[in-house]
This record gives sequence, structure tokens and C-alpha cells, in this order.
Amino acid sequence: MSNNLAIKLRTGTQKSHTAAENVGFMKCFLKGVVDKSCFAKFLGNLYYVYRELEIEIEKHRHHPIVGGIYFPELNRQAALEKDMEFYYGKDWRTCVQPSPVAQSYIARIRELSATAPELLIGHVYTRYMGDLSGGQMLQKIAQSVLKLEGYQGTSFYNFDQIPDKKAFKDKYRQALDTLKIDDATAEKIVAEANNSFAFNMKMAQELEGNLIQAIGQVLFNSLTRGHNTGSTEVAAAN
Ligand code: HEM
Repeated sequence: MSNNLAIKLRTGTQKSHTAAENVGFMKCFLKGVVDKSCFAKFLGNLYYVYRELEIEIEKHRHHPIVGGIYFPELNRQAALEKDMEFYYGKDWRTCVQPSPVAQSYIARIRELSATAPELLIGHVYTRYMGDLSGGQMLQKIAQSVLKLEGYQGTSFYNFDQIPDKKAFKDKYRQALDTLKIDDATAEKIVAEANNSFAFNMKMAQELEGNLIQAIGQVLFNSLTRGHNTGSTEVAAAN
């Protein structure tokens, strides 16, 4: 018997998804306006979030509910480490720190792991299903705009253990649907998925200042490119 969690999550987070797509950072990204240092910061926050999420999910892999959505082939920590090394070099750990929002996001994951681990499902759903969906679009944009080779610097989006993403998403939805949960728990998981969207939106918003500065620099460079002949030189030549 299905608990309909997959459809409850999809419909219950639809408004959040629309809001996430409409955050300035994401809108710019979709239009191909993405700056290397902002993108690296974006991935840096995700590194800390995924590290925490994956530690906690692993801890609860035998939990009667959480165990039902344990798919280690989704794990992103190692891929994000590769990306961090690409952008910041071998000593990346000395210069990459989680932002204030990332820190509260991590604290929430830790709190749930200790008090209501089944609600972590709202978090893994939001991140992994998103990475397997819109995330794949974002990878193509980042690769082309930042002129990156293959998955260099975008390993995060490379699910090499999941060659057929659509089939995997169907399997994941089926796993969600067969979790042994009651309606009240399903409702709490959906609420937590919305909470996860909110953290992700706030993390993107934190980066907007950096992005605006980068856009300003690009515009300035473009407006000041080339060397104009001075007006008095022009006048003298006439
Ligand atoms: C510019 C940004 C984004 C675009 C263009 C985008 C696009 C999409 C698309 C096309 C789908 C449907 C894929 C399918 O049905 O197989 C999808 C699904 C999804 N996205 Fe996004 N997305 C974006 C941002 C985000 C963000 C920021 C999150 C959360 C952190 C997110 C989470 C999800 C989730 C959880 C699903 C699965 C919905 C479901 O079927 O249950 N997306 N996205």
C-alpha cells in the first residue's frame, strides 16, 4: 500500500520550488550569468551541508524508516571535495568555511538526526531529487559559461553511479511511497522539505552580494574596453 509520500512531497513543495527558481542567484544562473568565485562559494556551502547530511543518513541506515531511502550511490561528499580542490587547491580546507546560513542548515540536520531522524527524508528528497533534475541543467550552464572541461569543477552534478537518472528517480519515488509512515509523519516530512528549500534559498541569497559585484565588474570591463581617441586629438586632426 502506498503512503503517497512522493506526490505529497511534489505538490507540497511546489510553491517552494517556484520561489527557489525565482531567487536572483538562480535566475541569473539560468541566464548564463554565473561567476567562478560565486559558484565555488555556492559549492563550498553545499560541501558542508552534504557532509553533514551524509554522515547522519549513514548513521541511521538501519533505522526502520530512514533505512528505506538509504541510497549511498547518491552521496556527494567525495565529488564536492574534488570540486573544492579544483577551485581552491590542495589546502582548500583552510580557506573554505560554511556561511552563516549553511551553519544553521547544518545545525538543523544535526538536530533532526538526534531527535526525529525520519524528518531527514525531507532534506534528502529536496537536495538529491533537485540535483538529479534542475541540477543537471545548471551543470551544463556552468560548464559552458565557465569554460570547464567535462565535469572538472562540476563533479557535484556528476552522478557516475546513476547512469539512468529518470529510472533512478522513479525508484526513489517508489521507495518514498513504501516507507512505513502515517499521515502525520508524511506531513512533517513535507514541512521539513519546505524548510530545506528555505535554507537553500537563503544560502543562494547570501551570495547575491558577491554576484552583483561580479556582474558590476563584467559590465565595467565591457564599458571601458578599448582605447578611445581623445576629443582634443580628434579636434586637432580636423
Ligand atoms: C534554477 C533552478 C531550478 C530549475 C531550473 C529546476 C528545474 C527542475 C525541473 C525541470 C524539475 C522536474 C524534473 C522531473 O520531473 O523529473 C525539478 C524537480 C525538482 N527540483 Fe528543481 N529546479 C531548480 C532549482 C531547484 C532547487 C534550488 C531545489 C532545491 C534545493 C530544487 C529541487 C527540486 C526537487 C526536489 C525536484 C523533484 C520534484 C518531484 O518530482 O518530486 N530545484 N526541478
